[in-house]
Amino acid sequence: MTKAAVYATLNQPLEIMELNLMDPQVGEVRIALGASGVCHSDLSVINGTLPIPPPAVLGHEGAGTVVAVGLGVTNVKVGDHVVISWVPQCGTCYTCSRDQGELCETGATASMFGTMLDYTSRFSMKDGTAVAQMSASGTFAEETVVPAISCIKIPDDVPFQIAALIGCGVLTGFGAAVNTANIREGDNVVVVGAGGVGLNTIQGAKHKGAGKIIAVDMVDGKLETAASVGATHTINASNGDAIEQVMALTDGRGADVAFEVIGFPATIRQSFDMTRKGGETVIVGVPRLDQTMEFNPGMDFVIAEKTLKGCWYGGANVHRDVPMLISQYKNGSLKLDELISREIKLEEVNSAMDEMHGGHIARSVIVY
Ligand code: APR
Ligand code: ZN
Ligand code: ZN
Repeated sequence: MTKAAVYATLNQPLEIMELNLMDPQVGEVRIALGASGVCHSDLSVINGTLPIPPPAVLGHEGAGTVVAVGLGVTNVKVGDHVVISWVPQCGTCYTCSRDQGELCETGATASMFGTMLDYTSRFSMKDGTAVAQMSASGTFAEETVVPAISCIKIPDDVPFQIAALIGCGVLTGFGAAVNTANIREGDNVVVVGAGGVGLNTIQGAKHKGAGKIIAVDMVDGKLETAASVGATHTINASNGDAIEQVMALTDGRGADVAFEVIGFPATIRQSFDMTRKGGETVIVGVPRLDQTMEFNPGMDFVIAEKTLKGCWYGGANVHRDVPMLISQYKNGSLKLDELISREIKLEEVNSAMDEMHGGHIARSVIVY
């Protein structure tokens, strides 16, 4: 048995309950979670933006200790500390071998359904009802079972709270700037949405040598954190026209590269309109799947030669990028302690969800 936070009903709080957890099967690993971040995508499941059918153990930004391994597991052993990737990445399929591990054909589909690679789950209720596990992980639980290819071994001296953040917000946000976008040295960059993910996009842009890094948000506290991790300019979008303010900071031209890190069509349009001719706009935020947008292909894309790109999981190869991010954290160039606004218990997960609506918290992290 293990205690877990279960999504049972749309738009209702998660329920804390004891669940059965099966032993790890072939190629699987059982993990005692050390920490799990509470990410906006967890809220997106509860409000129907990301449709995972309930009941499901949410949580996909986690790190912990391996407590058991199934047959055939060679990349980790009992006692190892690991970051859990929310896309299992096999390293050998069509997309993995083309440096698009975030789209791994072995892992991505199962992880979207909230199951393991064989499309079943390892959690169940006392009466036997199967309980899905978000992103083949389910980190809102004291223990979980995940595919071994979702595990990346990390040094024992990295705090679990930090390692957990790397599992989603950092890989996604930093990766959007470093892997997905084409930021050239001195480029002016705008990041719309300075939450747990956007703050890492700011750090990725800094890493790539961007010139101006303009953070746009509606909460002053978020903008202060943005400035502390590398934003050179901040704009509160509730005070005046944010597009005009970006234009004023970029000689009337617009940014070379803009990132939308919220997930609304309106802010995607805004980010696109903040980008200069020939520039690039990267969508990192995940909009509701029933939303559409209109563009003028001649004006927007052909004549203005703009590019609009999607970004899934920061275009990350997790097996390459997690060790890189940890070494940057250790040498002080990647600021992660600043992103943890508060540490909570599993039972407090619903209050972390509520705080997210208010938008004052960069990240709440559950510590087990
Ligand atoms: N204009 C500017 N900023 C806004 C607006 C707006 N209209 N609406 C919301 N924001 C800001 C919030 O104040 C918050 O700081 O966007 C930020 C979103 O941050 P979080 O809620 O912490 O979300 P995060 O976990 O960073 O995820 C952002 O990326 O991975 C996806 O699914 C995730 O779509 C979500 C997005
Ligand atoms: Zn996430
Ligand atoms: Zn693969």
